[in-house]
Amino acid sequence: MTGRQTIPAVTDSADVVILGAGPAGLTLGNLLLAAGIDCVVLERADRRHVQTRARAGFLAAHTVRVLDRHGLSDGLHRRGLPHGTCEFRTDGGRFRLDYGALGLGERHTVYPQQDLVTDLLTHYLAAGGRIRFETEALTVDDAAGARPTVTVRDPEGRPGRWRARYVAGCDGRHGAARRSLPAAARHQRDHGVSWLGLLAEAPPSLDAVGYALHERGFAGHMARTPEVTRYYLQCERGTAPDAWSEERIWDELGLRMRTAEHGPLHQGRIIQRSVIDLQSDVMETLRHGSLLLAGDAASLPAPAAAKGANLAVLEAELLAEALIDDLAHGDPAALDRYSPRCLAHIWRAQEFSHWMIQLLHAPYASDGEALFHESLRRSRIESLRTSRAHQEWFAENYVGI
Ligand code: APR
Repeated sequence: MTGRQTIPAVTDSADVVILGAGPAGLTLGNLLLAAGIDCVVLERADRRHVQTRARAGFLAAHTVRVLDRHGLSDGLHRRGLPHGTCEFRTDGGRFRLDYGALGLGERHTVYPQQDLVTDLLTHYLAAGGRIRFETEALTVDDAAGARPTVTVRDPEGRPGRWRARYVAGCDGRHGAARRSLPAAARHQRDHGVSWLGLLAEAPPSLDAVGYALHERGFAGHMARTPEVTRYYLQCERGTAPDAWSEERIWDELGLRMRTAEHGPLHQGRIIQRSVIDLQSDVMETLRHGSLLLAGDAASLPAPAAAKGANLAVLEAELLAEALIDDLAHGDPAALDRYSPRCLAHIWRAQEFSHWMIQLLHAPYASDGEALFHESLRRSRIESLRTSRAHQEWFAENYVGI
């Protein structure tokens, strides 16, 4: 708290104050609660928003194993769809990769993030977990010490302050946890590409993730449920989400997915649209004294390889283990290892996401350099089509985390 702002009195406390009720915060809350650790989740949005916000939806095999281990996977086993095939469409034709039979033989489970978050929240509340909705964390203070505090604004707009032994920053890229850290502490990259992200009220048109590489730009097709499909269309940076009419969207999807050659797409009402600038960033370290970061607050992978939610669950389990070791068994060693252990997974995910971005998007310049890159890209897709070793590598890194 800077300047003359008054620091509110401490109004509440918990051993672990978790900021954010996304996959990271709720997985962490469930694991700490199960170990008898005193924790609370502070969430800025209301319950309905948290349970209905549609975002990711491809769970890696590792994520399913973590959720299985902690009894949090009933919903995804009941309603999730196994998924193990990619289809690449280029001007040279199309080819499919049954990645579930390659690499480590692992597949994704298609399960909308809002359903996962609803399962985690329901489980957390049923186990007696504490959560404060519509409670926005404003600052994290004294994180360097052993008694950090979090100032908040409660649902009525009143200031409050939580004292903790540890604060878990699971409040995303623009949350209070990140804001309380020096800006220099992150590695960033803007990939210079933007996508129009769409949810269509239409059944999937392929039994595969569809990647269309086209001179007009990238197009992507991902199942979400038997009734809803996620599409991506590469667009100009700065495009407004509602700038494209539904007619133009389906025309462009048809052109880039080459439906004239490969058959029509099931069309339906566009029920959600957003524009995503493909950017990636990674915090230099995920621990700042008593403040520990997980999920998008720790690193943001560009959405080219479905890594975000899977990293969030992986980090939440590692953080829970480390906090339990310290708070329940007095052993802080795992907390010291938390950041490097996560960063190894994070950079692997970043490396593969970067490789995918280079594969899916034509260079946006037309000079000699760009033509060189375009030839590299064509060689890369041809190698993926023909080289078993490349396909094994792809499968291991596409699902692996
Ligand atoms: N105070 C309290 N809560 C906050 C604040 C704040 N200042 N800022 C953000 N939040 C909440 C958001 O409302 C959201 O519910 O933090 C939560 C962060 O959840 P996610 O964004 O889902 O992040 P995370 O749990 O790290 O999961 C990352 O989710 O969104 C996908 O693509 C993303 O796949 C990635 C995964």
